[in-house]
Amino acid sequence: MSAARATFTLDGLELPCEPGQTILEAAVAAGRTIPHLCWHPGLGQSGACRLCTVRVDGQLGAACTTRVRPDSTVECRTEELDDRRRMLLQMLFVEGNHFCPGCEKSGDCALQAAAYEVGMTGPHFEEFFPSRPVDASHPDVWLDLNRCILCKLCVRASTEVDGKGVFAIAGHGIHAHVIVDSPSGRLGDSRLAVTDLAAHICPVGAILPKRRGFAVPIGQRRADLERATTPAHLRALADTQRQDDRG
Ligand code: SF4
Ligand code: FES
Repeated sequence: MSAARATFTLDGLELPCEPGQTILEAAVAAGRTIPHLCWHPGLGQSGACRLCTVRVDGQLGAACTTRVRPDSTVECRTEELDDRRRMLLQMLFVEGNHFCPGCEKSGDCALQAAAYEVGMTGPHFEEFFPSRPVDASHPDVWLDLNRCILCKLCVRASTEVDGKGVFAIAGHGIHAHVIVDSPSGRLGDSRLAVTDLAAHICPVGAILPKRRGFAVPIGQRRADLERATTPAHLRALADTQRQDDRG
């Protein structure tokens, strides 16, 4: 007689889980998703964005860093948690310069998609309109820190997968920002290659490959065509583009 498979419930749905899985990993393995910005299946845990915060047996926890417990009850898409997500997204939008209609990433942006997903209809808070540098010195990759949401995906990809450590975060609080490891501090003098995962993993339009701007017109992109765009879809698109670059 085989032992019964361990399960947990996510928003009332019974899903299987394996020892060692996080709640987000178990949800994704079962074909479900939880709103997230800083999680990537190929990278270690981070817990930077808190968009994936759920209630586990009543307690708040990040789904991407909390191990799933068999028989636990996880609440994700409740009004209370989506309210928190809307506020978090509104803060991310006003802290940077996210002018979606003029951004090459519009329609393929995880921040924009998450905002649609939880029904964010405006910024609510006063915009900071920060003035941050744009670095166009690399022949193949563009870096615009005005759009950075400090998810650390580029930092982790460059260190954990590319083995280069091109990106890091410096400063604290409102002064936190991405820095580039090169003699001049500019991307063009770094070891970044357009085939690196770090060149394609940015969930917003802060790191973009050059010379493919608006190849798909705005209005015909994924989020334009189907409002159900999820970060998982966007990751698949980034992976496809990376494969293309590798030829
Ligand atoms: Fe995240 Fe992009 Fe900022 Fe890197 S540049 S921390 S990937 S938003
Ligand atoms: Fe869990 Fe960002 S996806 S904290």
